[in-house]
Amino acid sequence: VAQLQEPVRDFVLLYINGERHEVRGAKAFLNLADYLRYEAALPGTKIVCAEGDCGACTVLYGKPVDGALSFKTLNSCIQPVFNMDGCVVVSVEGLAARGELSPVQVAMINSQGAQCGYCTPGMCNSLTYLAEKAKVSDEVVCEKKARNFLTGNLCRCTGYEPILRAAETMDLKTYQPLAERYGCSAVCTDLETKQALDITVSAKLGSEQTVVHVPSSLKGLAAKLGQGRLISGATDLGVLRNKDKLKDSKFISVSRVAELEVCEDRGDEYWIGARATWDQVEDLVRPVFAEFSHLIHVFASPQIKHVGTLAGNLVNASPIADSTPFMLVNDGRLVIMSSSGKTRDVALNGFYQGYKKIDLQSDEAVVAVRLPKNKSQQRIYKVSQRKDLDIATVNCAIRFTMNEGKLSEIRLAFGGVAATSVCMPRIEGLLLGQKLNAEILEKCDAIIDQELKPLSDVRSSAEYRLKLCKNLLRKWAHEISPENFV
Ligand SMILES: Cc1cc2nc3c(=O)[nH]c(=O)nc-3n(C[C@H](O)[C@H](O)[C@H](O)COP(=O)(O)OP(=O)(O)OC[C@H]3O[C@@H](n4cnc5c(N)ncnc54)[C@H](O)[C@@H]3O)c2cc1C
Ligand code: FES
Ligand code: FES
Repeated sequence: VAQLQEPVRDFVLLYINGERHEVRGAKAFLNLADYLRYEAALPGTKIVCAEGDCGACTVLYGKPVDGALSFKTLNSCIQPVFNMDGCVVVSVEGLAARGELSPVQVAMINSQGAQCGYCTPGMCNSLTYLAEKAKVSDEVVCEKKARNFLTGNLCRCTGYEPILRAAETMDLKTYQPLAERYGCSAVCTDLETKQALDITVSAKLGSEQTVVHVPSSLKGLAAKLGQGRLISGATDLGVLRNKDKLKDSKFISVSRVAELEVCEDRGDEYWIGARATWDQVEDLVRPVFAEFSHLIHVFASPQIKHVGTLAGNLVNASPIADSTPFMLVNDGRLVIMSSSGKTRDVALNGFYQGYKKIDLQSDEAVVAVRLPKNKSQQRIYKVSQRKDLDIATVNCAIRFTMNEGKLSEIRLAFGGVAATSVCMPRIEGLLLGQKLNAEILEKCDAIIDQELKPLSDVRSSAEYRLKLCKNLLRKWAHEISPENFV
């Protein structure tokens, strides 16, 4: 008996500056920035690095939920159009209303915040995001806040002072929130009612038949597993695609699977759905894991954190990923679903089997990351050339409990010193029950020399990385037991 085919949509639906776009065929595979510039005739969005690094391509996006719409920023140069289904996008052309510049743009002009103007559209959009937040919370915009919101925007000529002055002088009283302008009920209803259908778009790109499935539920996702490369926030894969290093032609986007967006406190653990974005995780874990929340604060940029995910970071399996050492020492687990719809629950400790080799089959997807709560103290160290928006040279997470000056619990992991992030059980065994002092740290040095074989690369030499590991342990020891080092 022939099976009934589930109905599918063959187009991506989004609104851009209030205009409805049904995107079909090859155009759905463009990066949003290219779509805006070359298909939607909105060339205000600029592309400079095409790697998510400079923020010139920043646009605002929101996804209506029960008729409510709030906006965040993203880097449109690395975001495929097929990931934007169900979204309202606002580009720099959408900021002015009725022929008048928005208060954000007025402040940029009055503060002389632009010279060549290449960064200006992205700056204006990040400042608009700041204005949206400040308007809701009724907070005064101070310089520190402005700096945080502009972490992902580089300016090569103006210097940042005039742009920061613009942030501080935006007239928030006259600022009209974007949801009032672009989130009318007709738009929200149109987008939300179309979310029930799965999407499949295919197109011949060059000689390759390229396909993307964008399921709308976990069941729809299971049905497609094994038929393409999973793509989530695209902050790793989008960069690879732009560098022509992504060879896949079949994709499964998890951007619309509502069940994967669950991000909640479940009493004894945090449940972080595979589509929960970094900004959500930063807020969720703060009460118990302030150190991890702070790490996320300096992780990447707002634009990256508004779309990138913890699950993507862990599956990408970079030996220098910032979350992995922390998740390893805190016994993080992954809930993994296969194409049969069945799930398995695996410890991250054991998930990494070699360089970019992980315990995940081609027909499996991560559904959620589980982070058990504990009362231990935590320290996370990231050594990078810049504080913000930089890849670590070495990173390190330590979980520990001190009892009467001795370690009654100790877990340690390093990143950036081997093919995967690594736990250090021999050092843990050596330190357990002991006081921290110069002598024991020297014994730790010897284990580091024996066990870690880092590479030399553009960021640092192998010797420097080893030295960093030893010094990070010293830093920690001096921080928690300063009396033992006088
Ligand atoms: C400018 C910039 C700055 C960055 N800064 C940092 C930083 O400071 N620290 C850091 O660690 N990283 C950083 N990154 C890397 C990146 O942002 C993170 O690794 C991010 O968390 C990846 O998540 P994603 O959802 O975007 O993954 P994607 O790019 O969509 O996917 C990454 C990988 O995960 C797989 N995948 C995604 N979702 C699933 C799923 N549900 N199940 C199974 N597989 C899945 C994909 O197939 C792919 O292999 C940065 C990236 C950029 C562009
Ligand atoms: S062009 Fe630089 S972040 Fe997109
Ligand atoms: S004004 Fe030229 S890059 Fe900022």
